[in-house]
Amino acid sequence: MAEHVKLFHCAWPYALKGLVSTTVTVLLFFSLFVFAALLNWMDIPIIRGTPFGQAIFTSISSGVHHERIEYPLNCSEHVVDLTCSDNYPSMFEPEESNTEACPDYFRWIHEDLKQWNSSGITKDMIERGIPSADNRLVIINGSAYVEKYKPSYQTRDVFTIWGILQLLRLYPGKVPDLDLLFYTGDNTVIMKRDYNGPNAASTPPPLFHYCGEAAALDIVFPDWTFWGWAEVNIMPWEQMLRAIKKGRERIKWEDREPYAFWKGNPYVAADRVDFLKCNLSDKNDWNVRLYKQDWNKEVAEGFNHSRLEDQCTHRYKVYIEGATWSVSEKYIMACDSVTLMVKPIYYDFFSRSMVPMQHFWPISRENKCRDIKFAVEWGNNRTHEAQAIGRAGSKYTEEMLSMRNVYDYMFHLLNEYSKLLKFKPMIPPNARRVCSETMACSNKDLWKEFMVQSMVKSPSDKLPCTLPPPYDLQAIQASLDARERIAKQVEKWETEYFEKN
Ligand SMILES: *[C@@H]1O[C@H](CO)[C@@H](O)[C@H](O)[C@H]1NC(C)=O
Ligand SMILES: *[C@@H]1O[C@H](CO)[C@@H](O)[C@H](O)[C@H]1NC(C)=O
Ligand SMILES: *[C@@H]1O[C@H](CO)[C@@H](O)[C@H](O)[C@H]1NC(C)=O
Ligand SMILES: *[C@@H]1O[C@H](CO)[C@@H](O)[C@H](O)[C@H]1NC(C)=O
Ligand SMILES: *[C@@H]1O[C@H](CO)[C@@H](O)[C@H](O)[C@H]1NC(C)=O
Ligand SMILES: *[C@@H]1O[C@H](CO)[C@@H](O)[C@H](O)[C@H]1NC(C)=O
Repeated sequence: MAEHVKLFHCAWPYALKGLVSTTVTVLLFFSLFVFAALLNWMDIPIIRGTPFGQAIFTSISSGVHHERIEYPLNCSEHVVDLTCSDNYPSMFEPEESNTEACPDYFRWIHEDLKQWNSSGITKDMIERGIPSADNRLVIINGSAYVEKYKPSYQTRDVFTIWGILQLLRLYPGKVPDLDLLFYTGDNTVIMKRDYNGPNAASTPPPLFHYCGEAAALDIVFPDWTFWGWAEVNIMPWEQMLRAIKKGRERIKWEDREPYAFWKGNPYVAADRVDFLKCNLSDKNDWNVRLYKQDWNKEVAEGFNHSRLEDQCTHRYKVYIEGATWSVSEKYIMACDSVTLMVKPIYYDFFSRSMVPMQHFWPISRENKCRDIKFAVEWGNNRTHEAQAIGRAGSKYTEEMLSMRNVYDYMFHLLNEYSKLLKFKPMIPPNARRVCSETMACSNKDLWKEFMVQSMVKSPSDKLPCTLPPPYDLQAIQASLDARERIAKQVEKWETEYFEKN
């Protein structure tokens, strides 16, 4: 099976060169092929026609090099009065006319906005959403204005707005006028139950947020960590990923500890506290090693024991949700270790197209210890298959989550959203203009460093990828059913195993 996977890895760049016009078909075929190959040794019937096929080519550069003028952060004139530079181009001219299809997970954009598809979004809906929002972002003629309602935790709002400003620099003149509300907390806020049935007061307000769940209508948007989480020393995603890729080279998969590893703060969720019982003890060894992250201690000690690039030491790594979704997911998956994913309730913008047994191993919430023990033993018995899952998970984070794709996701989400607006956005009376200079020039050392690192220095030389059409309802149901079926199959193995042993 490992041969098949290897073949696939080598073959697809060639496919890409020759068959650009049929790439989607080819890649669909290839991913179904790999999926099928992986499922074959698991004795699970192959699922066809699910929305799992991924276009994994958007992050591959064409190899053509363009000379581009760079516009680095220029604080010389702006640090005192904090005005915005008018040096930066207000339009961009893409040199390549042909565009690539976006990854498959972009299709969820349509799903997230479907609620407002027929009604559109009115000014009244926005105003009713204000009590749930931390801030309001308005974009007019390519400039951004922010009205702040509530403080955010740490710098979540700052780095989120920074990210949007970088999108404006990547595609100047292309992001349409819009008016949106943003919530930066953990919990989901726009609950379906409040807007369903005979007692439904009104149509739900649209609210941008970092995560969603089946019971909520929050519109998911990339979280702040893609531009850095300064308080805990987590670099912008591009730099962090580079460091993790280097870190994971230090110990080959076979030479890593043959156990599952988790390090984090348990006291943010009951499930995480419950998880502590799975740790090695005199009585049990569930094949998992757990470590508490004490952020206050880490801050005091200069983050010497919390560097993510030093945590690719075990063959398996556990992902378990915090209060809701956890930003740790992408760092965990980037290690090349097998991600053992405790069944999540929440999703972020990229996780809904990940497939169990292809990108991660599913772990139930109820039987965490047992399931992990089995998964680790299974993988240690079948190292090739286990490594293939680890590698596919890492590949997903590297390619699907390239910053280009992150920006393109933001672009398409905002663009589709703006089409629904029934009114002309206006600058709110208490809003202030923000730009890279006003945010970075007067900022603190590490914050400024992360902003400079993650700054977009020149306009793109190509258009955003092409947004794929919405899923039809059957396809979504089929994909949910398939996930469920795979998880059930894994559970069946586990039950059989523990009945025998
Ligand atoms: C910085 O901006 C000022 C005014 O906008 C300009 O005169 C100066 O040349 C810029 N410096 C650099 C290094 O780009
Ligand atoms: C929204 O409505 C349009 C037509 O009004 C339709 O073509 C489109 O498929 C709908 N989108 C979704 C996600 O249902
Ligand atoms: C945006 O551009 C239009 C057309 O150039 C102009 O009429 C309008 O005043 C501008 N609005 C703002 C807020 O700059
Ligand atoms: C889990 O067990 C390991 C090994 O005994 C120990 O080093 C670690 O501190 C334990 N973790 C927790 C959270 O108790
Ligand atoms: C962190 O570790 C490095 C090298 O291991 C050491 O030189 C440094 O003093 C440590 N920093 C702190 C704050 O403990
Ligand atoms: C792993 O291999 C051992 C030895 O062959 C076997 O006893 C055990 O059942 C296997 N475990 C799993 C989960 O495949």
